[in-house]
Amino acid sequence: MRRNLRGMIVAVTGASAGIGKELAVQLSAAGAKLSLSARRLDRLEELNQQLGGKHLVVQADVSKREDCEQFVAKTLAHFGRIDTLVCNAGYGIYRLTHEYSPEEMREIFATNVFGTTDVIHAAAPALLKQESRDGCRAQIMIVSSAAARRSTPFIGPYSATKAAQLSIAEALRVELKSQRIAVTSVHPIMTRTEFGAVAEGMSGVKLPRGGPGFTQTVEHVVRRMVRGIEKPIPEVWPHRPTRIGILVAAMMPRVTDMTLKRFMRRVEDENRPQT
Ligand SMILES: NC(=O)c1ccc[n+]([C@@H]2O[C@H](COP(=O)([O-])OP(=O)(O)OC[C@H]3O[C@@H](n4cnc5c(N)ncnc54)[C@H](OP(=O)(O)O)[C@@H]3O)[C@@H](O)[C@H]2O)c1
Repeated sequence: MRRNLRGMIVAVTGASAGIGKELAVQLSAAGAKLSLSARRLDRLEELNQQLGGKHLVVQADVSKREDCEQFVAKTLAHFGRIDTLVCNAGYGIYRLTHEYSPEEMREIFATNVFGTTDVIHAAAPALLKQESRDGCRAQIMIVSSAAARRSTPFIGPYSATKAAQLSIAEALRVELKSQRIAVTSVHPIMTRTEFGAVAEGMSGVKLPRGGPGFTQTVEHVVRRMVRGIEKPIPEVWPHRPTRIGILVAAMMPRVTDMTLKRFMRRVEDENRPQT
């Protein structure tokens, strides 16, 4: 099944920066009609102007259920349908797991997990009712992470939210298949966006950014996502070696723990205050 991007209605959360913003740029160039949301309305309006002013922008904080409902309602009122719903909004905090405050723990789940499930819950009745287009009634794309399959020090709770998103995608994919609704999860490795600065800004902890083999450009990640929208597949892994590496790591937890322990010491050394 290949879906035509021209005229496709795509709703994206977290479109004011990074992956969501680049997705808007690439999809707009391919002729899709977009509903773009995030908390920073000024950024969304500026992006829409750059793209010719033809898209819908909706201010929404996905950690708030009523904002998720409004985003979906405004999108449906404007376009009448949603061909692909991209649950992308999210953030991380670089902090040891036991040092997360209970509030931080709840907030990160509220945005990354409930921000995903609340948008899906709000959209599902309309998605299930709409006519198929190019053989597909709709697609739900959830931007998870490579960390969904193996957590590492300093991103434990963040990885837990990404694992939760993956579990939701896996179940939904089977549950909705007979309704011709495709479900795709996306698993980037470290990608050059504002993500690292936000995660460091919230904790003060700096993580090594990794060499060229361990980071990806946002353009590359989004090209793979666009391919996954055109031709829906279960999982998009923009960095294939990581997909294989993580499967091997899962079979050898003790060895993986030892490797990650070395990484943890390196981060602790680099973050030790200079005397
Ligand atoms: N960059 C990476 O290394 C990486 C790797 C794997 C997975 N990911 C995932 O990719 C997704 C996008 O991240 P990114 O790298 O593009 O980061 P980014 O550049 O920081 O962009 C994050 C986007 O999410 C939005 N957002 C954050 N909290 C929100 C909230 N409560 N309500 C609505 N929007 C919210 C931000 O908009 P506002 O601040 O304007 O609301 C922004 O548009 C995230 O889910 C992240 O977990 C990123």
